Amino acid sequence: MHFFLDHHESKLPDVKTTIFTTMSRLAMENNAINLSQGFPDFDCPKLLLEETQKALTSQHDQYAPMAGALSLREEIANKIEKCYQQTYCPESEITVTAGATQALYTAISAFIKPKDEVIVIKPSYDCYEPAIKVNGGIAVNFQLTAPDYKINWQEFSKKINANTKMIILNSPNNPSGTILEKSDMLALEKIVKNTSILLLCDDVYEHIIYDGNQHQSACMFPELKKRALICSSFGKTYHITGWKIGYCLAPKELMNEFRKVHQYNVFSVHHPSQIALANFLRKSDDYLELHHFYQNKRDFFLKAIQGSKFDFTPTQGTYFQILDYAKITEEKDMDYAQRLVKEHKIAAIPFSPFNTISNSKVLRFCFAKKNDTLEKAAEILCKIN
Ligand SMILES: Cc1ncc(COP(=O)(O)O)c(C=O)c1O
Repeated sequence: MHFFLDHHESKLPDVKTTIFTTMSRLAMENNAINLSQGFPDFDCPKLLLEETQKALTSQHDQYAPMAGALSLREEIANKIEKCYQQTYCPESEITVTAGATQALYTAISAFIKPKDEVIVIKPSYDCYEPAIKVNGGIAVNFQLTAPDYKINWQEFSKKINANTKMIILNSPNNPSGTILEKSDMLALEKIVKNTSILLLCDDVYEHIIYDGNQHQSACMFPELKKRALICSSFGKTYHITGWKIGYCLAPKELMNEFRKVHQYNVFSVHHPSQIALANFLRKSDDYLELHHFYQNKRDFFLKAIQGSKFDFTPTQGTYFQILDYAKITEEKDMDYAQRLVKEHKIAAIPFSPFNTISNSKVLRFCFAKKNDTLEKAAEILCKIN
């Protein structure tokens, strides 16, 4: 044992390399098609690049305001108004963050104290639980099951007790691709009414939702809006995951606490990119069209694997498709994902790292890729017996 670790117990003893890193490394080593990690394989909008070039040469080289460039906060407020007909004050209720990950981490750190309970709905993205634990909180898992991953709100409400401080929602959901409907939000409103439970919404896929469905933002439900910290990201919307720019929306009192942490763990975010995004958003509402782009991708991929032995329900949102391999093998998802990459040269993400159960025979495939990549992947998948 390392001298220092002998004396300092790890705060996160269970945290290992993420499954995304593991599968991407395996994909590289095996020269496989990588449909594991969820980054888009497309150029960012040309206009955004032009605005970035301008912003880089127009003296935005010093710190941005702690809460973010005001022009960007104003454009975010306009976007929320346009999408959800809700008002957030740019001065006091919107903060620009280094991606949604930082927004989520900061929101958890600002409110979660030792022994506070936070309900995490499984399957879930992997960044919530370490943030809860590092702050001494307790993640209380509520496991959903295939094929529809619907929430039984009566069962859910049994998880709530006097220690429940926060509930985390992620719709559209990574990894299941399911969405929360209006009836879900209304059921949750009833459950949290007359409590002080906070809601942390991870809305990074809010513009990637299919088949005519609308994202049901918590801000449209009064009982939810008043307790919600809503985190989103430009990474998914503009194919710029590497820029790490996102934001958090919350009522003034909650945002005040959020900023107390934000100003000491980040202070402020890359200034020229914020100016570029503000100018871009002023000129373009491309995000309203994004779902068409990805629905075409989803349908292209699903049509191409129609003859395969994988079963699926078309994903409702995100750029992930779950494929069920139960007709192919009895193997555990971790084993099958490894074999798929080594023998068939295609990388996907097993489901169990997102779950409290390990018996689901499904893998997550990212279809935010060019059509020829999807075609090659489908060809391989169709040949698997
Ligand atoms: C559900 C979910 N939340 C948050 C993030 C992270 O967003 P960002 O890259 O803006 O930090 C991701 C990225 O994959 C995600 O899938």
